[in-house]
Amino acid sequence: MRIIVLDNDTDFEGWRKAARRLATHDVKPAEVTWTIRRDDKLSSAACANELPDAPQAQFNVSAKFLELAKAAVLHRDDQRFALLYRLLWRLRSHHDLLSATDDPDVAEVHAMARAVYRDIDRMHAQLRFREIGRERTAHYVAWFEPEHRIVELAAPFFAGRFADMPWSILTPDVSAHWDGHAISITPGVAKSEVPSEDRIEEAWRRHDNGFSNPARLKMMEMPQAYWRNLPEDSIIKPLIEDAMRMTSGPFIARKTAEPQQRQDQPMPRKQPQAHDTIAALRAEAVNCRACPLWKDATQIVFGEGPQSATLMLVGEQPGDKEDLAGHPFVGPAGQMLDRALEDAGIDRSKVYITNAVKHFKFAQRGKIRLHQKPGTTEIRACRQWYERELAAIKPELVVALGATAAQSVLGKITPINKNRGRLINHDTTKVLVTVHPSYLLRLPDEKAKALEYQRFVDDLKIAADQLRNSARAA
Ligand code: URA
Repeated sequence: MRIIVLDNDTDFEGWRKAARRLATHDVKPAEVTWTIRRDDKLSSAACANELPDAPQAQFNVSAKFLELAKAAVLHRDDQRFALLYRLLWRLRSHHDLLSATDDPDVAEVHAMARAVYRDIDRMHAQLRFREIGRERTAHYVAWFEPEHRIVELAAPFFAGRFADMPWSILTPDVSAHWDGHAISITPGVAKSEVPSEDRIEEAWRRHDNGFSNPARLKMMEMPQAYWRNLPEDSIIKPLIEDAMRMTSGPFIARKTAEPQQRQDQPMPRKQPQAHDTIAALRAEAVNCRACPLWKDATQIVFGEGPQSATLMLVGEQPGDKEDLAGHPFVGPAGQMLDRALEDAGIDRSKVYITNAVKHFKFAQRGKIRLHQKPGTTEIRACRQWYERELAAIKPELVVALGATAAQSVLGKITPINKNRGRLINHDTTKVLVTVHPSYLLRLPDEKAKALEYQRFVDDLKIAADQLRNSARAA
């Protein structure tokens, strides 16, 4: 039996190196025990196997497997490293193993990755910062209990969204801190070390601090007289003191003097990469300034769904509800889409859903924000994100919902009625074009609505059949 001791719970590189070495030397999965170093005295060197390093070119695994493995190591299941090694071992002789969705190992690794991505989405959607200190000494703190070990992967999203405020995310596993320049990771803390809601509530008074936060968070203010009296061992006090130290530093200078210039700087355009993760793309996209739509939108609404999805749905742009919630297709069009997907036998939780344009375009009419159709300039400016999502997900089929989506996906204006309901080969992807669900909502006549709805479901069934056939053929 070989015991492999990894440096920490999320030591993907350690696992990868050891697994490559073990597999090259034909060590069977049943002969390996994977453990995590819990005690400094137990150095990984002492327990590491004595096998020589694997030659680099001995065997390769697909980018898809590496992507799955990177996500699965963040799962709390104790057996994750053993499962991944078993899969790696089997992939050597069964290259298409990952398409065998009824294989228990494959199903399990997909389920683990899905759970991790869901947890990252939950953290992005639910985490709320509270302000500690005031004005130039403010530090923002959030407590979060992730289901899996996702903090390091999820934190860059907050660095992008809240680039102008120093924050700390405290969790039982690790804590992440942003100082305006870089994220640092320190050990986790117990919940008892974080001031309780009651303690905070009693001393803080709610206010909108004028920080133009696109997510419209309600911040809280804590009088200095209060935080100065916090116990020395409070987790918060050192954070505030750090923030105080930064008052004359570059962080504050940037925060107070030039937020607009920083925000207006164009982003460098990056090439699509198969190894990008959606979480990382989403974090990057938070700063997107490729067109002016970000200025009025509440936030970017990036694509969502499992990275392993075989079906990708592309809509037009987020609507009012999506803009506020930060998630695609959660408003009325989303409900229509959910119903049609269900009627077509497609499980939405297995689909990656995104939009051609990722910021809400609208015209303000009194209190109402009227949806405006995005133009070619905005579709082109935003296409880089679709291209990068496509490269990261590598779906078997893309369904374009409506004319804007079709224009983005196929790279040219494409009439829907002439092209709907058939598979189109485009570059390396199959594309199906159909109507946008909001078109169904706008139809005034109930009979026409029912008919068009059925046509829409029939189009989606073509997608479902195609995926079933290719899964069977694999
Ligand atoms: N319409 C879209 O095209 N996308 C959404 O996310 C919501 C409505």
